[in-house]
Amino acid sequence: MILVIGATGTVGRHVVSELREGGFAVRALARNPDAARLPRGVDVVRGDLSDPPSLDAALRGVDAVFLTWPFLNADGAPPVVDRIRKHTRRVVYLSSEGVRDDRDDQEDPITGFHAAMERLIESSGLEWTFLRPTGFASNDLGWAEQIRTDGVVRQPYASLARPLIHERDIAAVAARVLVEDGHTGRRYVLTGPRALTTREQVDAIAMTIGRPLGFEEIPPAAAREAMLARGWPPEVADGALDAHARMMSRPEPINRVVEEITEVPARAFAEWAEDHADDFR
Ligand SMILES: NC(=O)c1ccc[n+]([C@@H]2O[C@H](COP(=O)([O-])OP(=O)(O)OC[C@H]3O[C@@H](n4cnc5c(N)ncnc54)[C@H](OP(=O)(O)O)[C@@H]3O)[C@@H](O)[C@H]2O)c1
Repeated sequence: MILVIGATGTVGRHVVSELREGGFAVRALARNPDAARLPRGVDVVRGDLSDPPSLDAALRGVDAVFLTWPFLNADGAPPVVDRIRKHTRRVVYLSSEGVRDDRDDQEDPITGFHAAMERLIESSGLEWTFLRPTGFASNDLGWAEQIRTDGVVRQPYASLARPLIHERDIAAVAARVLVEDGHTGRRYVLTGPRALTTREQVDAIAMTIGRPLGFEEIPPAAAREAMLARGWPPEVADGALDAHARMMSRPEPINRVVEEITEVPARAFAEWAEDHADDFR
């Protein structure tokens, strides 16, 4: 039995499906099971990471856990990791490519909390594997409203090229790592197959929905305003923009780890756009 924490999220939902399709018994943690919309046969159990005792019912009898940490700091994590360790042996943690192993203080708050989570899990005695994906292609869903309303994407750093990864590839790796031996103590950087500039991403979406789309480069300060208006916490907006600025001079890596683990090449951005075409129409 495998417990997926974050089972209704971008990656976790596909981890659940991958495991079900592979014939494994899956339990899903959800704060609101009635709204979870998970496949038939999945044991959906109520629980909340901010209330550690509420996790016991979901953790009972579980062999491994896929852990998404949905908060912006690791303050509440020690009692959660402690509970996971009491109930099970193995954890696969959804971290980030941005974590730097060569420094104690990370470069932004997001990689800061992922590094703190990794350290906590490493010292817990659990058998762990860390998945460190590059940026998710699904971040581009943030453009959906602009695309639907006026057909123009406004973004800073026009020439920034990123190997965005399809959420299904992260999930496919997670499903393998959760059930196969040989992945303990590994930190897997997971990337898309090719780096695309923002303009190229917009063009791929335009091609998919069959409608021309515009692209306008805006200053980072204007992008920050727009993020805050969409409800982003200031530290997250700043962290994301700083990370993008850094990637201009230090691009994210591109590797074949998805293919090495799943035996299937990582999906192209165009396939992601196809899978999400209705979100942009
Ligand atoms: N976006 C990127 O480019 C990127 C890149 C690298 C790493 N990451 C990391 O990926 C993680 C996010 O993954 P995701 O996008 O798949 O998640 P997501 O779509 O944001 O979904 C969050 C999940 O967490 C659950 N959740 C939220 N609060 C909870 C709570 N108090 N107790 C229990 N469950 C709770 C939600 O469930 P309910 O709301 O249904 O309860 C949902 O299933 C973050 O740690 C992020 O830093 C993201």
